[in-house]
Amino acid sequence: MIRLEDVSKRYPNGTAALQDVDLAIDQGDFAFLVGASGAGKSTLIRLLIREDLPTTGRVVVDDKDVAQLRHSQIPQLRRLVGVVFQDFKLLPTKTVTENIAFALLVTGHGGQIVREETERVLALVGLTHRSTHFPRELSGGEQQRVAIARALVNRPRVLIADEPTGNLDPVTSWEIIKLLTRVQELGTTLVMATHNAEIVNALRRRVIHLDHGAVVRDEREGLYAA
Ligand SMILES: Nc1ncnc2c1ncn2[C@@H]1O[C@H](COP(=O)(O)OP(=O)(O)O)[C@@H](O)[C@H]1O
Ligand SMILES: [Mg+2]
Repeated sequence: MIRLEDVSKRYPNGTAALQDVDLAIDQGDFAFLVGASGAGKSTLIRLLIREDLPTTGRVVVDDKDVAQLRHSQIPQLRRLVGVVFQDFKLLPTKTVTENIAFALLVTGHGGQIVREETERVLALVGLTHRSTHFPRELSGGEQQRVAIARALVNRPRVLIADEPTGNLDPVTSWEIIKLLTRVQELGTTLVMATHNAEIVNALRRRVIHLDHGAVVRDEREGLYAA
């Protein structure tokens, strides 16, 4: 589903954020991306969603080199790959329903589909009762669940989460992790960047460890000593 071939990323200021990364993540997999702050986790994620391009090497998602995508093919990648961030990135002037529906509108859907699919993902994350609320009226955990619903509404085959529990307390973090685990069990490939060792060690999934932009360890049922 995802392949990085000899990928390096050097920012214009000279920082080498990724160095010779080779990686393959299969459809349906659950992979943690771990490593200290600055190790290159977010950079790797930005390459996967084509928010940035590798300096050298290839990033392949669903058999397509993302750097080679034409402008008109980028919405396709956005439908294929959902993403959630540490700071939720909800639109403050839109309600919960409108935030989710927006993701469908920008991928060209309208009418009945928008209503049905928005209700479907709201139920999936357990927030049907919050549909008319604004983000500022929700707790952090609820806001992250809205962000997850928005990421899932286009039925992506891959869900990427960059430190999704970074702004949440431990109890709320576990609720989010349980939700993400359920999403993966329903068939979505899950890639989650985190430096929360407790979560990584409790779940025993694949652990890809980045250090100064290089993969230093990649283990099934791995552990992480932060
Ligand atoms: N836009 C940018 N311009 C220059 N350097 C950057 C940029 N984004 C990240 N970096 C640097 O690249 C390295 C990797 O950062 P990042 O991918 O954000 O790591 P992580 O998500 O693991 O904390 C760090 O040294 C960081 O300072
Ligand atoms: Mg980061």
